[in-house]
Amino acid sequence: MAKREIKFGIIGCGLMGREFASAAARWCHLLNLDFVPKIVGICDANPAMLGWFRDNFDGIKVETADYHDLLNSKDIEAIYCAVPHNLHEQIYIDIVKAGKHLMAEKPFGIDREANRKILDVVNAHPDVLVRCSSEFPFFPGVQRIVKAVGEGRFGRIIEVQAGFLHSSDLDPRKPINWKRRVATNGEYGCMGDLGLHVLHLPLRFGWQPENVRALLSKIVTERPGPDGKPAACETWDNATLACEVSSGGSRFPMILETKRIAPGETNTWYIRIYGTEFSAEFSTKYPKTLRTMTYTPGGAQAWQSEDLGPASAYPGITGGIFEFGFSDSILQMWAAFCDELVNRDNMRQPFRCATPEETARHHDVLTAALASHEYRQVSAVGD
Ligand SMILES: NC(=O)c1ccc[n+]([C@@H]2O[C@H](COP(=O)([O-])OP(=O)(O)OC[C@H]3O[C@@H](n4cnc5c(N)ncnc54)[C@H](O)[C@@H]3O)[C@@H](O)[C@H]2O)c1
Repeated sequence: MAKREIKFGIIGCGLMGREFASAAARWCHLLNLDFVPKIVGICDANPAMLGWFRDNFDGIKVETADYHDLLNSKDIEAIYCAVPHNLHEQIYIDIVKAGKHLMAEKPFGIDREANRKILDVVNAHPDVLVRCSSEFPFFPGVQRIVKAVGEGRFGRIIEVQAGFLHSSDLDPRKPINWKRRVATNGEYGCMGDLGLHVLHLPLRFGWQPENVRALLSKIVTERPGPDGKPAACETWDNATLACEVSSGGSRFPMILETKRIAPGETNTWYIRIYGTEFSAEFSTKYPKTLRTMTYTPGGAQAWQSEDLGPASAYPGITGGIFEFGFSDSILQMWAAFCDELVNRDNMRQPFRCATPEETARHHDVLTAALASHEYRQVSAVGD
């Protein structure tokens, strides 16, 4: 089958830049897709980051430390941009103004003001596809939950709990990096880093919080700096948000956790939705297991656990009994982005990547959370 090549440039060749390139390199994993991403340009301010790409990819035509070189290249149609948060505003705006499709990274602007400026430019360029990375909804168990919400199976929602838990920062010897500095990561701290992952699905389901009560904490206040001397960690380590949601004529609590210091949790993303007729729970801690409970009045309250195979949004070559992992979720997310780029409203399956509008609504929640913690108050979400 002749495949339509989507020629990509990558700006920011660090942790996530490599994840995308690796997904592109194993595109053959996916079945029956008539499009394929091809990496033709790479850009990083640190030239040492380009070597891995050079060693592993044929067909790279532009290598640069200046991202404008990718934007000026006629060979490049789309950009993946994975840079520190303080750079999102300028670089995303320049990418969209150059007419390149953009897969961006969260939090999609270091703060709400930056996010709004990016949204203004995105809205002025409707032909440019802009989406934001959020891969966890592509885990098979989560796809099943998305389907159950779409089918209205939950009855009245009782409560939603969603979280993203990391633990490597428990080690005070871990060196400081840009994610612990307000200037580069932003005032939101852990919420800006992990919050879109947690809010993406609730927002997709129409569960925008009306208000929030936030508890934020700083736990490790100093880490070894580049010279080995203690350097101040300025950002929030942990955040718990208690939100009130009004949807479909009912109100329910939604508890959101974003934590960098959750002892023992390496990269645990979870969602639990409790309803009067159906409840469901998925955590990457048990990546193949979906827990659900169907309830009819007077009936048994019995949870069931189902081990799932790898079936996600896009069919792949993996046998039906084998389990799914993080890099599979990245591959599936990229299939959704490329599918939408090529087929727009006629995507092969209906689950789109996170939209700029969803990032704006997540900024509203995080901004309200900062105010809530500062003034120890219930803060309204939005203007
Ligand atoms: N989707 C996810 O699961 C996920 C996971 C981690 C990080 N992220 C997001 O990805 C983005 C990047 O994070 P990361 O962990 O890959 O960071 P990283 O530090 O590993 O990589 C960032 C790269 O950007 C480069 N860079 C800095 N300034 C630049 C410039 N002006 N031009 C070009 N390159 C420049 C750096 O040299 C570095 O190599 C952030 O927005 C972060 O929140 C997403």
